[in-house]
Amino acid sequence: MQDILVVFDSKYGWTRQYAAWLGEDLRADVVERTAANREILEKYSKVVYGGGLYLGRIRGLRQVRARLARPFAAVFAVGLALITQESTEQVRAANGVGYIPFFLLRGGMDMNALTWLDRRLMGGLRHMLRRKATLTESERELLGIWEHAADFADKATLAPLVALLEERTSSK
Ligand SMILES: Cc1cc2nc3c(=O)[nH]c(=O)nc-3n(C[C@H](O)[C@H](O)[C@H](O)COP(=O)(O)O)c2cc1C
Repeated sequence: MQDILVVFDSKYGWTRQYAAWLGEDLRADVVERTAANREILEKYSKVVYGGGLYLGRIRGLRQVRARLARPFAAVFAVGLALITQESTEQVRAANGVGYIPFFLLRGGMDMNALTWLDRRLMGGLRHMLRRKATLTESERELLGIWEHAADFADKATLAPLVALLEERTSSK
C-alpha cells in the first residue's frame, strides 16, 4: 500500500468512480470527505483531494483544506462541461487551488437522478441557454443531453495525475 490517501466528495457518483480508479492505480487508500478527520489525514504523507464541480465550486475542498496541516499533493475536480486549458485555469483560480497540481476531469449527469433543487437549478440554466443567440460547443452539448443521461467518465484521463503521484512517490 502506498503512503497516499485519496479523499473525495461526490454527490451523484462520478467523483467517487474517479477516486476508486485512482485508488486502484496508485494502490492508495480512498476515503469519503465526511470520514477524513485530522487523525486520518495525518497518517499519510500525500493527500489527494477530488470533488464534484457545482456552480464553479469544488465540493468539499475548503472543509478538507481546513483540516490539513500541509498542502494537498494534488487536487482534481469532476464536472460536466467540455474541458479546455482555459476552463481548467478558471476552476483552479475560482477555488484558490494556487500552485498545487490541478486536474479537471469529465463526469456526467442524469437529469432524472437529480434532487429537486438541482433540477430546478439546471432548469434555470437550460431556460437561459435556450434564449441565448449563440451557444458555445459546451452549452450546445448541455442542451443536447437534457433528455437522457450522459456519462463522460474516462479512466484514461487520470493518467497524468497517476504519473505525477507515482513519480513523487518513487522519488521519496
Ligand atoms: C446544480 C449543479 C451545478 C453544476 N455546476 C457545474 C459547473 O459549474 N461546471 C461543470 O462542469 N459541471 C457542473 N455540474 C455538473 C456536475 O459537476 C457533474 O454532474 C459531475 O459529474 C458531478 O460529480 P459528482 O457526482 O461526483 O458530484 C453541475 C451540476 C449540478 C446539478
